Amino acid sequence: MSVKEIAYIGVEASDLNEWARFATDLLGLQIGTRSDDLLTLRMDQKLHRWILTRGPADDLAFMGYECGSDAALDDTVKALKAAGSAVTEGDAALARQRGVQRIAFTTDPLGNRVELVVGLADAATPFQSAKLVGSFVTGSGGAGHHVLMEHGKDRKTVMAWYERLGFKPSDHIDQPMAPGFVASVSFLHCNGRHHSLALANMPFPKRMHHFMMEVSDLSDVGFAYDRCMDDRRPFEMTLGMHPNDRMFSFYVRTPSGFSIEFGWGGLIIDDATWTVKQLDRLSVWGHRPGHVVAELLKAAA
Ligand SMILES: [Fe+2]
Repeated sequence: MSVKEIAYIGVEASDLNEWARFATDLLGLQIGTRSDDLLTLRMDQKLHRWILTRGPADDLAFMGYECGSDAALDDTVKALKAAGSAVTEGDAALARQRGVQRIAFTTDPLGNRVELVVGLADAATPFQSAKLVGSFVTGSGGAGHHVLMEHGKDRKTVMAWYERLGFKPSDHIDQPMAPGFVASVSFLHCNGRHHSLALANMPFPKRMHHFMMEVSDLSDVGFAYDRCMDDRRPFEMTLGMHPNDRMFSFYVRTPSGFSIEFGWGGLIIDDATWTVKQLDRLSVWGHRPGHVVAELLKAAA
């Protein structure tokens, strides 16, 4: 019993116009629907992968995990209730809003709204990106991965909760960053994607540190990097590679302040052969903070 993948991500955003421009012109997503208070974005054949509603939070509002079947959803709800979590079955109106056949929702130990769904619908038209050479890598690996902030909550408690959803640990990274501070991230998977979820202890005010979207063509990482640079978007980190999922990626700030990791070449793992590791650095190379580049350019000028 396990959730299968990230179906969609919900964000409350103060500037939907800027989000629409950022997502389509810079990253290559496609607008699904647009109204004054709602923006949905497509990354593939699915109806939507992003649901943005207008509001002041500028943060993660909910995440939807696909269960794959009614039986799997029922089992997951049962396991959560047995462990003391309140789970509510969503009504037809909510299911329609999310474009799913069935939905239940609950809250994780970090206070994030978690939606368990079955049957995220396909769109009526093929996915079309105005920017990508290739496509977004979704399929059985879902929409991507995301990193949630712990904000001091005990990691074991949070991991145990997500393990009830069927997530399994992939690995852990502890990197000393400054005297007295070790950045610590634990990675979890629910399909072949090295991780769909990670939990991080870094000081960051949002619920979500970043969402990773993966592309099939390496050059799309370069093109998106150039478009973000030409647009003078704030970069959180330059191009680089992670040691665990081998993702070649950069991090750019969204209009809501958390980041998008835009990457290529993420590792696919097999539970039959995978062993959980402990690593000591978050990046093999690159992923330098934006201010390092800014200082270099200033010195060169
Ligand atoms: Fe990531």
